[in-house]
Amino acid sequence: MSRSKETGQLCEPKEVHTPVLLKALSGILRYPADGTVVDATIGYGGHALEFGGRLTQKGLLIGLDVDNASLAAAGRKLENLNCRVELVRENFGRLDEVLEQSGIEQVDVILADLGVSSGQLADAERGISFQRDGPLDMRMDTRLQKTAADLVNGLGQDDLANLIYKYGEERRSRRIARGIVTARRQKPLERTSELVKVIVRSLGITTKGRKSRIHPATRTFQALRIAVNDELGQLEALLQKAPQLLKTQGQIAIISFHSLEDRLVKYNFRENHKNGFYEILTKKPLVADNEERQRNPRSRSAKLRVARKVEARQ
Ligand SMILES: C[S@@+](CC[C@H](N)C(=O)[O-])C[C@H]1O[C@@H](n2cnc3c(N)ncnc32)[C@H](O)[C@@H]1O
Repeated sequence: MSRSKETGQLCEPKEVHTPVLLKALSGILRYPADGTVVDATIGYGGHALEFGGRLTQKGLLIGLDVDNASLAAAGRKLENLNCRVELVRENFGRLDEVLEQSGIEQVDVILADLGVSSGQLADAERGISFQRDGPLDMRMDTRLQKTAADLVNGLGQDDLANLIYKYGEERRSRRIARGIVTARRQKPLERTSELVKVIVRSLGITTKGRKSRIHPATRTFQALRIAVNDELGQLEALLQKAPQLLKTQGQIAIISFHSLEDRLVKYNFRENHKNGFYEILTKKPLVADNEERQRNPRSRSAKLRVARKVEARQ
């Protein structure tokens, strides 16, 4: 994504986002053609085009995203759908309020494809990727107050280490936090490239000679992004509210990209199964087949879990 020089407005993303696990979702999602489908992470509208395309004029597609540029791109992509389309800039953790404002009590499908899109990752100005130099920002929602730079330069060493450990599952979090605190005494870290250098230096490894499959900055960047956007807190809120927001026979489908997210989904579905609310439709998470893994590398870490509501609301 880029900004227009004249207006500062966000423009059409250049990076194409290929929706993951589309075939797997198509095989499992069932809903009436005049039903209501919520795409809680509309992104560039890839999934929504497919699932909104199954709805008639009486059907309704509600798309949420915290990112204005994604909503604008989705709007363009979905303009020829037959069904009604409502796009809302809101966090999916507040789906209940969005539905209430639209006068809707319950829906047939809640779909969430978590994390960031390829376009957001490719946009250096968002500062999400350790592979591109940009401001240390990481906010998907520009209305949020705290950026990654605020955390990196503001948190105490122990809090920083705990954050990197908890959200990045980074075993070497203490060394990295110590390195950051030492570096920022000279000058606050403002760019993604500065943080990458500090991480690599703290761990005493070179990116060329490294043995690990993943880049040494991967886990720290993941941790900061999760914290800046409160990704796990918002996912928990959505999961907790979903049983009340689904019609009987309604389905919830969540695509996650790392174990912290997947664990929350797995335990929430189990809990709701025990409580008699959900039938779990994916005993094991569905993953991409070889063809999709080749075509779309992003799909390699994607896991899809789906549940169906079996009880009427109490
Ligand atoms: C992986 S992309 C979704 C791509 C989409 N399924 C498609 O096919 O184009 C995730 C999108 O969800 C948005 N997002 C992430 N967390 C969110 C949240 N808690 N509430 C609303 N939107 C969120 C991001 O801004 C991003 O646009």
